[in-house]
Amino acid sequence: MKTELSRTLGIEHAIFGFTPFPAVAAALTRAGGFGVLGAVRYTAPDDLARDLDWMQDHTDGLPYGLDVVMPAKKVEAPGDQTLTEAEVEAMIPEEHRAFVRATLAKHGVPELAEGEASGWRITGWMEQVARSQLDVAFDYPIRLLANALGSPPPDVVARAHDQGVLVAALAGSPRHARHHADAGIDIVVAQGYEAGGHTGEIASMVLTPEVVDAVSPLPVLAAGGIGSGEQIAAGLALGAQGVWLGSVWLTTTEAELHSRALTAKLLAAGSGDTVRSRALTGKPARQLRTEWTDAWDDPAGPGPLPMPLQGLLVAEAVSRIQRYEVEPLLGTPVGQIVGRMNSERSVQQVVDELTRGFEKAVDRINRIAGRSEA
Ligand SMILES: Cc1cc2nc3c(=O)[nH]c(=O)nc-3n(C[C@H](O)[C@H](O)[C@H](O)COP(=O)(O)O)c2cc1C
Repeated sequence: MKTELSRTLGIEHAIFGFTPFPAVAAALTRAGGFGVLGAVRYTAPDDLARDLDWMQDHTDGLPYGLDVVMPAKKVEAPGDQTLTEAEVEAMIPEEHRAFVRATLAKHGVPELAEGEASGWRITGWMEQVARSQLDVAFDYPIRLLANALGSPPPDVVARAHDQGVLVAALAGSPRHARHHADAGIDIVVAQGYEAGGHTGEIASMVLTPEVVDAVSPLPVLAAGGIGSGEQIAAGLALGAQGVWLGSVWLTTTEAELHSRALTAKLLAAGSGDTVRSRALTGKPARQLRTEWTDAWDDPAGPGPLPMPLQGLLVAEAVSRIQRYEVEPLLGTPVGQIVGRMNSERSVQQVVDELTRGFEKAVDRINRIAGRSEA
């Protein structure tokens, strides 16, 4: 499965994978695709350095990338000053804190043990944290830097280009995509409504060709709702130069999900069991629908706060829900493709199945077009 972009990067298959897990990213790169490690959960630069060291040792010299989350809009602060995490946290209203306490109490979620750190504390979408991640990442031979929530700032794009690193950015609309092109981005990931994580309102089938047209001749990767080779063929038929998958890796054997109960929930979920909700981060993100998302989406409640306040508000609660595997509240970002994630397989098995399915789809189209005997 070769395209101009896969040739530029020297990869066998134009299959890009976003994942928060180094073992998944490395396995995808070794399988001939392009693994992209999500940096958002690394609050300590040393932890990111440790995992990038590990990636270096486990990718056989093949290319991989890093994804950061730098929102285009910052928290409003007087005089454009940078707020500390504690100052941002102080902006959370007591009503919202009380709602978290009441929701956890309703489900009997125990407190964390004394001294037990809240593991789910994602602050990587605060610009200063994302910048500290970049300071680490640029010491490694990453080939691609991706940004989730907008075009990265001009100095970051310039720094990447100085080091020969390609820059990609996710876009949920043709307008976003054009903005990325104007900002000097090299690759646009057109991410449709079906996708897991932060997502816009336009479905992939409509979005991909719109973005291809909007930024031509820049290469576009199709993302959102792709979990089979047939869907890859569809993305390429719509003009993409590759695909970008996030959800399918969550149920691979290399994924380090924090609980078996969550894996079981993902394996059992159907394509209608996700919701686009602001419950987790304050921005609309597709995730498993749970009683936690229902509580936040209920008009009778206070509703989610804007990013990054909501993420800070719910961090400890999410850790407790995960730690005690409180089934009705247990969730994760995941896309509608969860309905096809019905068995645990290795990353290599997933890639083999994707490439086989792609070949089958191409054969079928060739037959339909009268281009082969079979
Ligand atoms: C668990 C999870 C976490 C995600 N976190 C990020 C992130 O931190 N940064 C980012 O650029 N995209 C993130 N995404 C979105 C993916 O990069 C990708 O665009 C999306 O998963 C593609 O759609 P799919 O889920 O249908 O494969 C996340 C997706 C999932 C499933």
